[in-house]
Formats: sequence, structure tokens, C-alpha cells
Amino acid sequence: MYTQLEQRGMAEPPVNVATLQKMKADGEAIACLTAYDASFSMLVDAAGTDLVLVGDSLGMVIQGHDTTIPVTVTDIIYHTKNVARGLSRAFLVADMPFMSYADPGQALENSVLLMQEGGAMMIKLEGGEGQLDVVEHLAKHDIPVCAHIGLKPQSVHKIGGFRVQGREPEQAKKMLESAKHLQDCGADIVLLECVPNEVGEAIHDGIDLPVIGIGAGPHVDGQILVLYDILDITPGRKPKFVRNFMTGADTPLEAIRGYVKAVKDRSYPAPEHCFS
Ligand code: KIV
Repeated sequence: MYTQLEQRGMAEPPVNVATLQKMKADGEAIACLTAYDASFSMLVDAAGTDLVLVGDSLGMVIQGHDTTIPVTVTDIIYHTKNVARGLSRAFLVADMPFMSYADPGQALENSVLLMQEGGAMMIKLEGGEGQLDVVEHLAKHDIPVCAHIGLKPQSVHKIGGFRVQGREPEQAKKMLESAKHLQDCGADIVLLECVPNEVGEAIHDGIDLPVIGIGAGPHVDGQILVLYDILDITPGRKPKFVRNFMTGADTPLEAIRGYVKAVKDRSYPAPEHCFS
């Protein structure tokens, strides 16, 4: 009965939470990307990406908004369903959009929708001290949780823009404390966005969970980027941590393979992609 779930008819077994923990333990970098549709998710999966996130960044790169705030649970379910159809090996994570997890009951209800209707295997929420009760409630119900800390794009209007977090020692200390509390409450992985290298390293060293970075430097367990950024589709100025993998690649698949390889051999992120 269980072999079906484990194998899904493929050469390599699908990635799950235990695989991510083992990769961390073995020192193998975890290559992660966003995807929003079946065509790209097939490419991302074929390139060997370990974890695929249906991020609320879709509000910006698919829907054309300036922030992720307008994205709804219905939007995420729609895109997660499409992405799920393209995957065979990668672990599928879906974002909880703005205000869809304001209290534990609402968070559980919406997580169930993302998993049952969308096909997500884990949900991601932007959280810190204010979300500990939510994480604990989801963990109690065996909902796998990725806790997104550092720069939290859903808080953009509160924090005054998309800016590097944790540069002040006091703020960095609080972030590390939050990461420890999220772990204690049952989070399974941490996504750390836009922090100086030393904050990335301190959080990696301070907790046992796999830490996936985006603009968090090289001293973490894996990297994630927005697919449209690495394929140079996103117009305008890119964040410092973005590398254009279409340079020198003939096809999107080749570019994504280049990204996975660079994460695995740790040539990405290079110093020019990092914050101090
Ligand atoms: O929504 C998203 O795509 C994200 C990434 C920036 C990690 O959270």
C-alpha cells in the first residue's frame, strides 16, 4: 500500500521531510525554486530541484501586483494544483497568503484546503513570535510547516519596504530566538530571507531544522529563488541575491540545471549575492 506513495513510478524516490533532514545531516545543499504552473514545474522537477514552492510571489510575477498582499487562498490552491501535476520527485510546499492564518483555527482550515485541494505536502507561513500558537496548532495536527522569517514580504507596509533584516544586533538576536521558538513549537523547516551572512550562519548553527536561504548567504542548508528571476523573465531591477542563470544557457531547462548545480556545489550564492 505505501510503496505507491514512496515510489510514484519513478527512478528516484520522491523527496519528503525525512529526505530534507538527511540532506542537512549529510551536508548536501537543498536546491529549491518557486513554480506556478505545470509546464515550469515539469522542468524544475526534471532539473533535479529538491523542493518546489508555490509562493505568494505569484502575486507579483504572475498577477502583476506590487506586493504579495492581494493573493488569496483560492489563487494558491489553483496554482498548487497545476504545479502538482508537473512534479514527480520534488517536495511541494504551498504558501499561506496574507491573513489566511491570523488565528490557529483559520490556519488549520486553510492548510487543509492547500493540502487536500491543492496537493501541497507542506505549508509555508511568514511568522515569528506572533505565530507560535498557529505553528503549534498545525504541528499538533501533523501539518508540515515551513516558517518564513527574516524579511517577511507580507509585512512590507509595516516594515517600510523590502529591506535587509537583522543588521542591528538586537534584531538579529530576536530573530534567532524566534527561530528556536518556532522549532520548539513544531516547525519542520525554516526559510530565511534577506539577512546578513552572519545572521544566516547564526540561525543555521542555532537550530536543528533545515534552513533554506534567499539572500541569507552561503552558511545555510539550501537556497531558494523565484524561478522567473533566475530565468531573467522578471522585468526591472532584481534583488542583489538574484543570479541570472539564462546567461550561457540555451534553454530554460539548461538554466534551471545550472541553478541546481550551482546550489549543490555551493558556487551560488557568491559574495556579490550576499549581504553584510
Ligand atoms: O513567495 C515566495 O516566492 C517566497 C520566496 C521569495 C521564497 O516566499
